[in-house]
Amino acid sequence: MSNTLLLNKYSYSTFKPAEPLTIHDINQQTVEAKYAVRGKIPIIAEGLQELIKMSPTNHGLPFNKIINANIGNPQQLDQKPLTWYRQVLSILQYPELLNEPNNFPNDVKERARNILKNVGSIGAYSHSQGAPYFRSSVAEFITKRDGFPSNAQDIFLTSGASTAVSYLLQLLSQDENSGFLIPIPQYPLYTASIALNDSKPVGYYLDESNKWSTNPNEIRQLLKTKAKEGINIKALVVINPGNPTGGVLTRKDMVELISICAEYGIVLIADEVYQENVFDGAFLSFKKVLSEMKKESPELYKDVQLASLHSTSKGVTGECGQRGGYMELVGFKPDVREIIFKLASINLCSVVSGQAMVELMINPPKKGDESYDTYISETNSIHDDLKERAEHLYNAFLEMEDVFVDKPQGAMYIFPKLDFKPEIYHKLFSRAKNSGLQIDDVYCIELLEHTGICCVPGNGFGQRPGTYHLRTTFLPPGKEWIVRWKEFHHSFVNKYKDMTLSL
Ligand SMILES: Cc1ncc(COP(=O)(O)O)c(C=O)c1O
Repeated sequence: MSNTLLLNKYSYSTFKPAEPLTIHDINQQTVEAKYAVRGKIPIIAEGLQELIKMSPTNHGLPFNKIINANIGNPQQLDQKPLTWYRQVLSILQYPELLNEPNNFPNDVKERARNILKNVGSIGAYSHSQGAPYFRSSVAEFITKRDGFPSNAQDIFLTSGASTAVSYLLQLLSQDENSGFLIPIPQYPLYTASIALNDSKPVGYYLDESNKWSTNPNEIRQLLKTKAKEGINIKALVVINPGNPTGGVLTRKDMVELISICAEYGIVLIADEVYQENVFDGAFLSFKKVLSEMKKESPELYKDVQLASLHSTSKGVTGECGQRGGYMELVGFKPDVREIIFKLASINLCSVVSGQAMVELMINPPKKGDESYDTYISETNSIHDDLKERAEHLYNAFLEMEDVFVDKPQGAMYIFPKLDFKPEIYHKLFSRAKNSGLQIDDVYCIELLEHTGICCVPGNGFGQRPGTYHLRTTFLPPGKEWIVRWKEFHHSFVNKYKDMTLSL
């Protein structure tokens, strides 16, 4: 009997097909989790982009292109990949290039040969914590960066920093009363991961009037009041340099935060993915500050648990799509660390080409290597370009009426406050309320509809009640979009000034 006949006999005729699962039948934590960076405004932008693509000459919009300023995705916005990275990666993907004539520099071939010799094919699973060769390299990088030893056994290579966050939050979410201190505003990966693990976000405000610094007294107070409410704080999350704020913490702030973690026995999650994006001065890591504190007062600080994260997605590297990252764990008890190792093992290993990206990011060509000059000129140009774009956008916001903006010190973002005068505020408020929106949503939607610029309303990151912000990257090239933004802002303010309140 053929298969078709069998199916006819036993399947098609003997049951009434059931409905697919509804949204109520699935894990409600996945339904609850929100991620504004790819949320409602970017979804509208995608629709408009599609419209432009389908009817390039007849779309009826006042612009021909969407400017994706909603996400720190450098290569989507024309940042060129560094030649050195891509040449080594090409050989790792296709080792035959080592035997074929090509004009790759010798140090590129040498590096690829070394990786292939020590790691093997990047098409094979690696050790779950990451290839030992790459982990040793990361430990050496950290040792050199901070002047304090780092150990390859403490390094976990991850598929971007996001995977590290996911492991840490899974690990620390003991039950629904587990709480996580997160900065407000924050990068929504944290609130989303907390929601997925059915634990509690406990926001601490960054001080906008003081370069987005932290307030240790407020954090200590939160620890006390939340304990009374039965919430068991497990970790303090710090993003430095800050997303979405662009702020950089002072050493004094960092010392205070480490002391809080030492006193309360909570994990310090230091998200340092923007460590290459510091405009003035050198980046200062939490690992370095903690090591200095331990040296001075070992008894007080020896048990501080620090998880610090880095990524190949940002900085001058900007290789978000390669999914490279690492996490260094310090001070965790061995059996707790074993559980993180188990989580990594369940995922088998992080993307091995991403692990190689980490190696190339932290161990670039040295002076005298054939690739050195090109590498330096390309990285300098990206760095200078970013700094210039940040300044240009910052200056534009300074000129806009009813906008308060802090000069970005690092990262890839500006988070200006929309500080409308009462006469405009009240009209905007009722306009927003009538549509079930907030004032910053209305601004971002109108900005998108008039200019094609897609940014994210501050409410997606958290903000003090009654304040409204927006977050934009300064990655899009050129200045024309900034001019358009200024014009839009001017007409937006005038429109609401002139409007009568019968909305
Ligand atoms: C503060 C912060 N942490 C983590 C990430 C995650 O980056 P990735 O997973 O690409 O390393 C991002 C991405 O934008 C970020 O801004």
